[in-house]
Amino acid sequence: MPKIKCKKVTWEEVEEWSRIVSDKVYSSGWTPDVVVAISRGGYVPARLVCDRLVVGELVSLQISHWPSAAQMAKEAGVRTPLYCNMGGKKALIVDDIADTGESLIIAKDHVWTNCRPEAIRIASLQWISGSSKIRPDYYAEEVRGWIWYQYPWSRLEDIIGFVKKVVEENPGKELWSIEELIRGVREWYGVEFDRWFFERALDKLASKGFLKRDGDRIIAKV
Ligand code: ADE
Repeated sequence: MPKIKCKKVTWEEVEEWSRIVSDKVYSSGWTPDVVVAISRGGYVPARLVCDRLVVGELVSLQISHWPSAAQMAKEAGVRTPLYCNMGGKKALIVDDIADTGESLIIAKDHVWTNCRPEAIRIASLQWISGSSKIRPDYYAEEVRGWIWYQYPWSRLEDIIGFVKKVVEENPGKELWSIEELIRGVREWYGVEFDRWFFERALDKLASKGFLKRDGDRIIAKV
């Protein structure tokens, strides 16, 4: 049993979920004039939703999570503000997942204040109903329990995090082979990826000084 629940998402699933979300918007009879993609996770779903609903206006808003000084938890905030007039328009905010729901709450508030649309609705591919503080108006899947969705647009970024975690969880082990790391990620997350991702992840972690690479030998410096 993997220690962390993780689902490796395929491009086909992304297409299917985006279609389900678009169909739900379509059948609700509410037609958005503008789509707001939450950067970065909402980019791909938002573009697909735009196509499936034939919406020509697509803007984006980046929400980031910074570690807060007071707690170890991360705080969400607007990284790239959006200043545009949406007067008289219906805006659909699209993200990949509503997990804590914080990004969506911040985005909705920001779009209201800065763009003044006539109405705002929210869509996401996944809605983690037990943890999200907001229920999206449209979603493809309600998720019960917590899962990390490994979306195809963030493969390398996630694998860098997975490798880091595996190394950190084994503080006594200094020397690793790439095969051991691949196995470690499989054991921790229950998912497998092409070796290419591990090669690139290790180069990135080496350039950040997290580990050293000497050919096939990987030396952890944690
Ligand atoms: N971003 C925030 N929560 C997430 C989750 N559970 N899976 C994938 N991406 C996320």
